[in-house]
Amino acid sequence: GSADPDDGASCPLVVVSNRLPVERVRDQDGRWHWRASSGGLVTALEPVVERTGGVWIGWPGTASDSERGPGPGSGSGGGDEDGAGIPTEPFEVAGPSTGRPFTIAPVPLTAEEVERYYEGFSNGTLWPLYHDVIAQPEYHRIWWDAYKEVNHRFAQAAAEAARPGSRVWIQDYQLQLVPRMLRELRPDVSIGFFNHIPFPAPGIYAQLPWRQQILRGLLGADLVGFQRAGDARNFAQAVRQLLGWTVHRGVVEVPLDDEARTGWAARRDTTVDLAGQSDAGRSAALVAEEMPPTRSEREEAGREAGSGRRPSHFGAFPISVDFASWDALGNDPEVRARASQIRHELGSPRTVLLGVDRLDYTKGISHRLKAYGELLDEHRLDVGDTILVEMAIPTREGVSAYQDLREEVEVAVSRINGDHSTVGRSAVQYMHRNLPRREVAALYEAADVLLVTSLRDGMNLVAKEYIAASVDIDGVLILSEFTGAADELRQALIVNPHDVDAIKEAIVRATRMSPRERARRMRQLRRTVRTHDVEAWSAGFLAELDRASASRMGPWRRREA
Ligand code: ADP
Ligand code: G6P
Repeated sequence: GSADPDDGASCPLVVVSNRLPVERVRDQDGRWHWRASSGGLVTALEPVVERTGGVWIGWPGTASDSERGPGPGSGSGGGDEDGAGIPTEPFEVAGPSTGRPFTIAPVPLTAEEVERYYEGFSNGTLWPLYHDVIAQPEYHRIWWDAYKEVNHRFAQAAAEAARPGSRVWIQDYQLQLVPRMLRELRPDVSIGFFNHIPFPAPGIYAQLPWRQQILRGLLGADLVGFQRAGDARNFAQAVRQLLGWTVHRGVVEVPLDDEARTGWAARRDTTVDLAGQSDAGRSAALVAEEMPPTRSEREEAGREAGSGRRPSHFGAFPISVDFASWDALGNDPEVRARASQIRHELGSPRTVLLGVDRLDYTKGISHRLKAYGELLDEHRLDVGDTILVEMAIPTREGVSAYQDLREEVEVAVSRINGDHSTVGRSAVQYMHRNLPRREVAALYEAADVLLVTSLRDGMNLVAKEYIAASVDIDGVLILSEFTGAADELRQALIVNPHDVDAIKEAIVRATRMSPRERARRMRQLRRTVRTHDVEAWSAGFLAELDRASASRMGPWRRREA
């Protein structure tokens, strides 16, 4: 459903995200190999890129100045690769689902950049801030400098990959400056941005020392997408309050003189106060020096100068999963056999409760464990017939808040097991590792109840995957109201995860729910996810992006047609 049917064919989609669908990891023998990445962003985008056959720009998950592994087998041969054997040029890969090829363009990060831009500004500043300061965000100027530097590198990579008029779709909080930087480098392309995590209320966002620069960065896009309507409202308020720009009906009017005065290509901070005053003749001059304008840029500038404003659209586009592929896994005889085997190995309990999350403090894992432990203490659940399987995916292990969380969770698990396990049965079966998707599907299949207790979560795709894989329509979903998914999945048992008693009630209710009620709820949930799958999400976003960039290019575009 794109506005211009030629766009898709002539201009492959360019996707830009911090994390690529594959990461470079080192095994115990010191050799490097590729492995599938985890996290909702990659899960959602992979089928989209595979279908469109575009270019995916991102970081391969390891520092480019890592030491080489032993022997010649550590890389794929040749000298055009870095210390981890990562090619320095774009290369083609076969998509994991259909085998259709797409291109990967790796963006290298040094160990120092991993520390400052990724672990630091992205996951020590923005992640906790945007998740309502569940953990304390840290503000460090050297982290911010690295963030700007690395965002600029991603913008340059996107500028090189994009053909004239391409659609470039930038993803998530790690790359919020890229839309604006890319617009300066390539005013001809359509720029979309999607934020996979929440956008906080203005009172929280206002803590950020670089709050205006980030908003300006985002507003370089033709379309900025959020998960929930509430995120889009928070963003609109931040723009009004912190930049004082006009916002109406999903459009921000970006003043072009502001763009000229606060150019990013100069790669230096502009000093901007709340009234929007800036010192920037100098940076504008630097921009001009670095990049003489092309003819199309001059034309574009002329068009835009006429109006004095450039529209930047924004709105809510709740992300989803590839329903068909999870549904197929749910029907797959091998996966089903594996699910029965898992239940058998767990001691054939009556009820299997399941938690699947990256080991992240936003996921409310401790709250869930507390509720479960109390139910066992009070003999409302019994290890004779109930087990909790807790699948924790390793994540961001260089960040101290994540190290602390791992301690906390593992102590809580062993306490519950110490108090309640018997010789033959554990109360909690805890695993800390990456699993292949088929094994995750088998766990979904084996579970009677999925527990999603996030304190804050942009969407939570695990909830939607569980629904799509529940072909037997007999599972129960317990879902935190603080997830994006709770806006859509109303037939789940919705809980406030801060209310331990509420989690306990929901668990008891789930374990006692009649097959009829389970089926009724699950059938409706499956309908929602089937009709709002990830294909619908990406098609909806890209169609809106086409409309948004057409409105920027208005009269010119119409003349061409
Ligand atoms: P987040 O994006 O915060 O990690 P989501 O719930 O949106 O949270 O997405 C998590 C993704 O990680 C899901 O697609 C899920 O299937 C995937 N995943 C779950 N368990 C594992 C695992 N053990 N190994 C690798 N990936 C996993
Ligand atoms: C969330 C974020 C993604 C991120 C993923 C995994 O889904 O929104 O941007 O890729 O978590 O985290 P990681 O830091 O490993 O990329």
